[in-house]
Amino acid sequence: MIDQDIKDKIDILETEFNKSLNGVSDLTELESLRIKYLGRKGFLSHFFRDLETLPLEERKKVGKVLNKLKDRIQTKLTEFKQVSQKKEVTEKYLDSTLSGDRLPIGRYHPITTVLRQIISCFKGMGFSIAQGPEVETEYYNFEALNIPKEHPARDMQDTLFVNDNVVLRTHTSPVQIRVMENQPPPVRIIAPGRCYRRDTPDSTHSPVFHQVEGLCVDENVTFSDLKGVILVFAKYMFGSDMKIRFRPSFFPFTEPSAEYDFICLICKGRGCHVCKGTGWVEISGAGMVNPEVFKYVHYDSERYTGYAFGMGVERLAMLLYEVHDIRLFYENDVRFLNQF
Ligand code: PHE
Repeated sequence: MIDQDIKDKIDILETEFNKSLNGVSDLTELESLRIKYLGRKGFLSHFFRDLETLPLEERKKVGKVLNKLKDRIQTKLTEFKQVSQKKEVTEKYLDSTLSGDRLPIGRYHPITTVLRQIISCFKGMGFSIAQGPEVETEYYNFEALNIPKEHPARDMQDTLFVNDNVVLRTHTSPVQIRVMENQPPPVRIIAPGRCYRRDTPDSTHSPVFHQVEGLCVDENVTFSDLKGVILVFAKYMFGSDMKIRFRPSFFPFTEPSAEYDFICLICKGRGCHVCKGTGWVEISGAGMVNPEVFKYVHYDSERYTGYAFGMGVERLAMLLYEVHDIRLFYENDVRFLNQF
């Protein structure tokens, strides 16, 4: 126990300090208060000096109490200083009568908007969303899609290799395999995502671009189901006057295969520089899933059939917004982006 008399004196000192602190109105007064209490000739130093007359044990105890008081005073002074500095800044520099700056409103990138539209259309037709990695193995990107080693699509010219058997996916078709590996039929998915190809950029080519893959596998799925789904989609995106066509083509993972086109909206099919005079704009490839592919995922090709399609998102966006150069989508010039 410390001497009651000393204890009382210390309590009074703290009460006095608190009272004075309440009366402080600016930083100069605050500094005077600090000197008065914590300065070299201040009250606390005084107390500490008086300790010297006390016996050792007592001195230790009172010393502890005084040090704690010193800390409390210091903390209160610092807090007070921070609060008043903030207040000072607000009072000096904030004029609440000034009119505010209007913040620019953000918006979706046109590619994102088109992707969202595609997704919402296919969701409406009962498709769910699947995803796969952009860094893909050769197995998924090529082999399981029945693209044999010597196929030209594997050529170094088209594919960006990470190492001997890892590539940046050249299409979203590998997601077909990943989905089928993980679930039995029926399957009805779309897989939106980024793809990569070793192309020299020009007005219609970009080394990074987006595709949406579609896959439907069930009993009795036919090519006319594929045509129906693509037609509904085309009309959803471009209006009920939209026309589509399928041309025979070849993909190792579909048989029969087709490429499908939408009528060129810019010239209404008459022929212009966008459709290169043909009146049609190529969207992507499609076809019936090749039974060879089913072998890789252990689907029974006697019982199930399926269709698959791809879709170039940039192409759709160019058609929809009448953008004539794909590179505009990646330059991120706000004067361009602000138009959407
Ligand atoms: N993956 C093909 C491409 O990128 C498109 C495609 C998808 C073709 C599905 C057929 C079926 O060109």
